[in-house]
Amino acid sequence: MNKPEFPSYQDLLDEEAVSIPEALRSDTRPDIASNVIATDVWTDRGVFEKEVEHLWPKVWQMACRETALQKAGDYLVYDITRYSILLVRTESGELKGFHNSCLHRGRALKSGKGTSRELRCPYHGFCWHLDGRFKEAYCDWEFDEANLAELTLPEVQVTTWGGWVMINLDPEAPPFEEYASVLSEHFQRWTPEERYVSLHVEKKIHCNWKIAMEAFIESYHAIQTHPQILSFTGGDNSQYDVFGDHLSRTITAQGIPNPGQADRYSVQESVEAMTGPGGFEQALQLTGLGADAISSRQAIGAVRKEQFAEFMDPERLATVTDAETMDSILYLVFPNFAPWGGFQSQITYRYRPDGMNADGCIMDIYLLDAYPSDQPRPPDAQTIRLGYEQKYAEADALGLLGALFDQDANNLPEVQKGLMASKTGRVITASYQELRIRHFHETLATYLQAGD
Ligand code: FES
Ligand SMILES: [Fe+2]
Repeated sequence: MNKPEFPSYQDLLDEEAVSIPEALRSDTRPDIASNVIATDVWTDRGVFEKEVEHLWPKVWQMACRETALQKAGDYLVYDITRYSILLVRTESGELKGFHNSCLHRGRALKSGKGTSRELRCPYHGFCWHLDGRFKEAYCDWEFDEANLAELTLPEVQVTTWGGWVMINLDPEAPPFEEYASVLSEHFQRWTPEERYVSLHVEKKIHCNWKIAMEAFIESYHAIQTHPQILSFTGGDNSQYDVFGDHLSRTITAQGIPNPGQADRYSVQESVEAMTGPGGFEQALQLTGLGADAISSRQAIGAVRKEQFAEFMDPERLATVTDAETMDSILYLVFPNFAPWGGFQSQITYRYRPDGMNADGCIMDIYLLDAYPSDQPRPPDAQTIRLGYEQKYAEADALGLLGALFDQDANNLPEVQKGLMASKTGRVITASYQELRIRHFHETLATYLQAGD
């Protein structure tokens, strides 16, 4: 079928009044052959077990916010499938990650998070210094002294990016900066490390972890799944990018109606869907433009920048594009860490299997917000935990987003069900709007094949 003519994302950027950051101008036009994907990648226990052995111990993963490990002795346990990693801030201020398994008889050393002067196993009391050196054991005459001294806790690689603690269980893995391609360059101006967590919701969902992740790397589903956003979401104008094996991105323009439904909405409706009532009038006053001359993106940008003045100095604010005030600029660092760029509330997602459950996952939604630089960093929000049967709408703090995420979450167990019920054992993907799905599966296949 021929694609109808409508402005591309890059065309929308041409309308901006200030210069466009390189990150947004980058338009990679990936060529990933249109192909089918076999359903067993989501349904077969054997594939899940291959991931446990050949994916999770090899990839960079977001473990937590660095603010969770601020002072010496702060610790946090990050669990992923059968692995458990104990992250610790040492006396010297370094971040370290240890396999969370006592070298005596294997008990997990810690659970959850807290603060501790030493790492003492709650079973028989073997004890380590915060930097992983062996400290002491009761009845030490029971053990060979030289052996005890060698009981240093095995480490994983730890680094930070954007205020997140990133780990890799593989000591041979390339550094995160290399692994994540242009991620740091692109986020240089969006500085997630300068933000605090204003909301964190962790929800269990009845589906394979990849099914949840895939629902957030394409905007194609919005027309059917989220009809209420069509007045202000140009899903069909989305740009899809790939930067190497481990990084991809969708930019979906906001503040314009979806091209296929544009005739249904006025400029004022598109604006006020994002700003709330009165936003259009406010934009006219702020810009001095007439109602016929202003575009919906200009109007929303003007209202948003007025709000950003609370936390941004005027020089920086003058460089902000309308795009960076509203668009969904959503990256995926393979396999499961998805930060948003831009200056609005930065949503960040993470998707993990629920323990060794191939058909259950845990999805994290974080909101990162800015605060005035002359004020102390607000404390991070407490985690809201929702079980399999709970709705996002139960988390009041999500506001209107709750209904939106429930629309996604309603699909996911049904996708799992349908994939298991598939007669053909295969699915097809859209040539452009679902290319990131194929890109993800290409990279996944290289990890799983490496184990064969
Ligand atoms: S299992 Fe940890 S001290 Fe015995
Ligand atoms: Fe969605």
